[in-house]
Order: sequence, then structure tokens, then C-alpha cells
Amino acid sequence: MDATTLRRALARTRLAPVVAFPKRLARVARHDAKVLRTSARWLFTSREHHNYTYDLTTLSRHHLAWFVSVVCDVPVGQVRSWFAELEGDEKLRGHIETATATASRRGLADRHVRYARRVGWYAMVRVRKPAHVVETGVDKGLGSCVLAAALLRNAAEGHPGRLTSLDINPEAGYLARATPWADVIDLVIGDSIASIRELDRPVDFFLHDSDHSRGHEKNEFDAVEAKLAPGAILLTDNVTATNVLAQHAERTGRRFLAYRETPARHWYPGDGIGVAW
Ligand SMILES: C[S@@+](CC[C@H](N)C(=O)[O-])C[C@H]1O[C@@H](n2cnc3c(N)ncnc32)[C@H](O)[C@@H]1O
Repeated sequence: MDATTLRRALARTRLAPVVAFPKRLARVARHDAKVLRTSARWLFTSREHHNYTYDLTTLSRHHLAWFVSVVCDVPVGQVRSWFAELEGDEKLRGHIETATATASRRGLADRHVRYARRVGWYAMVRVRKPAHVVETGVDKGLGSCVLAAALLRNAAEGHPGRLTSLDINPEAGYLARATPWADVIDLVIGDSIASIRELDRPVDFFLHDSDHSRGHEKNEFDAVEAKLAPGAILLTDNVTATNVLAQHAERTGRRFLAYRETPARHWYPGDGIGVAW
């Protein structure tokens, strides 16, 4: 009896789990050892303690380009060229590196500029040419810079727009306080729900990325509904954790899609982009 025939015969007996155990153990040990190696490297090479930054795997980047292409109904090649536009923006990259290196909280930030799923936010702003973008949750201001960079390119092509960035922390947004990006950003400090209720211009593009509790996320989408321009698009950064935006889309008669990112060389499992339109 050859090895394959023997294996197949054993698979039909009560010994099957015992025989399979060493192979299963080796597989999970290989996987866990890789996670441990990546985690150990990160502990000693990164300074970040939350809102981690990383690159996407090549495959995850391809999937994000197709995600934006389908949601925004534009050719995928065009989306890829917007990804390249952001990643090739040396002025923005240089600003983020310098501002990070000189910030008072530089001990908790990495100098490498890694946009991850934010390239998708950028491409969506480039497609939709919104007049008013609202981002809740600013942290250092990396997302604000990305969104502002897209608005500045739109403006150069005759489609001006502004970004309202909302955060409860008065120290938030240190990356987003420099020209030319700051010229299109209104940074508002306070609780996002109260700040949304105070908005005095219609919102074309809304991104939830603040307090990621289910209740707060839902309250933001409920609050912004009365402020939306016709045909507005809603994004959440919380889509891998809750179904809040999908439920909101169903209640309000919108379509919904979700993308889950895969970080490259990082222990963090990644976030995603949920979109309702
Ligand atoms: C995940 S970070 C935002 C990341 C940012 N959008 C980016 O692209 O890097 C979450 C931010 O939400 C802010 N935040 C938490 N609760 C909030 C609230 N109730 N209202 C406004 N901002 C809040 C925090 O201060 C923190 O800066």
C-alpha cells in the first residue's frame, strides 16, 4: 500500500484526528511564529501606540482600487493613477515627515509616511469633487492632509472644496496646520455630534473616524443625515467592527459596500472602508 492510499484509509478511521494532529500543529505554529516575529519587530521599530500606520499588501491595494472603481463607477486605471498621484506627492510626504519629526508628541509617532486605506479616501474625493467634506476624528491629521491634498488637486482643476475636520482633542491635527493643506481645512474642536449639528453648509462627503463605539458611530450618521447634500456619500472607518453604516444605508435606501484592508508587515489585522451611497 503506498503512502497516499494509507493516508486515505486512515482518514476513514477513528485514528484520523490523531494522525492529522502533527500536520495541524505545524501549520498553526508556522502562522503564529510569523505573527510573533512581526509583532516583536514592530515593538522595537515603531513608536505608535494607536491609529497605527502601515502599507497595504499589493493584493489589498488591487482590491481597494477595484472597490473604489465599483463604488464610484470610474475605470480602475483612473483610480490607480490617483493612488499614484497621492503617493508621488513629495511635498506632502516631506511635510508629514518634517512635522512629525518636530512635533511635541514625536515620541509616539513614526516618521515613515504610510497612508494604508487613506489612498482610497483620496481617490474617492478625486472622483466625486465634493464641495464640502467632513471627517470626524483627526488624531495627528494624516487623514486630514490626505483629504486636503485631494481637494487642492480638485481646486486646481476648477472644482474647489473644503474639509471640516472634527476632533474632541485640542491637540489633534498637528499635521494639518500647515499651508497649503490648512488653507482648505476648518479644524473644529469639540464633540463630533455637537459639531455636526452646528454645520452650516451641506455635506457632500462624510467620513466617520472618531469614537468607534457603536452608539457614537450611529449618532454621527443620524446627526449628519439632516445636513447632507443630495447624492452625498457616507464613509465609515469602523466597518470591520460594526454594521452601523450598512443598517443606516438600508434604513435610508442607499447602497452599501465594505472593503477590508490587509496591512503589509504589521501585526495589526487592519481596518477598512464602509461606503453608503
Ligand atoms: C482613529 S483617530 C482618527 C484618525 C484620523 N482620521 C486619521 O486618518 O489618522 C480617532 C480620533 O477621534 C477623536 N475622538 C474620539 N471621540 C471623539 C468625539 N466624541 N468627538 C470628536 N472626536 C473624537 C480622538 O480624539 C482621535 O483623535
